[in-house]
Amino acid sequence: MFVTFEGIDGSGKSTQARLLADALRAQGRDVVLTREPGGSPGAEEIRRLVLEGDPDRWSAETEILLFTAARRDHLERTIEPALVAGQVVVCDRFADSTRMYQGLSRGDLRALVDQLHRLMIAREPDLTVLIDMDPEVGLARAKGRHGTEERFEDFGPALQRQMRAGFLALAAEFPDRFRVIDGARPLDAVAADVLATVGAALDMPAHG
Ligand code: ADP
Ligand code: TYD
Repeated sequence: MFVTFEGIDGSGKSTQARLLADALRAQGRDVVLTREPGGSPGAEEIRRLVLEGDPDRWSAETEILLFTAARRDHLERTIEPALVAGQVVVCDRFADSTRMYQGLSRGDLRALVDQLHRLMIAREPDLTVLIDMDPEVGLARAKGRHGTEERFEDFGPALQRQMRAGFLALAAEFPDRFRVIDGARPLDAVAADVLATVGAALDMPAHG
């Protein structure tokens, strides 16, 4: 089973993906925890190119190509082999992030994102957990990390508001695989909801 986490910067995706992987492993499941951009050596190199530097370093079109190149490598080398081996793949961000960040932030490029996705990736997650929360809180949390990977956070709060609304619309567009979880609560409460949601999907007959 292929599970992804999506949401705005600082919403708690990385934290919740790690807690979910730990909880599933404690149940005896074989779990691969991974992330985008990155998740394979080649894709981690591309990660530095897209997440560091000036916000206007790349055009949205160039970013679509870079994120999709990273995703293709990640899919070939990490995700698909794990799924074939019967492992649960938990991934922090995937193609929905490209649909939002590159598809909406600088004009409407969603059709271009979807075209390239069909050509080069052609795979959707079985389940996507959207951690939803107020962008001001998310941005404050993200800035609290003081990292160097702040290119998208530097686009500012208006972008984060647009991303929140976009992710909620995406959840409505793909209701079969999306589950929306309120992230503006203590860590353990969010984690319990995530585990219940993913556990229920894993226990369905199709996934044994
Ligand atoms: P994301 O991966 O979505 O950017 P992170 O998991 O890195 O988010 O969390 C961003 C920051 O907020 C981290 O410093 C993390 O420890 C903190 N954090 C995560 N979840 C919560 C929560 N439920 N309440 C308070 N702080 C949180
Ligand atoms: P991530 O490391 O998940 O950052 P955060 O923990 O702050 O949420 O992702 C880094 C940034 O990359 C994030 O601002 C969103 C952006 N991104 C895209 O623009 N397109 C993509 O396809 C992906 C996967 C991420």
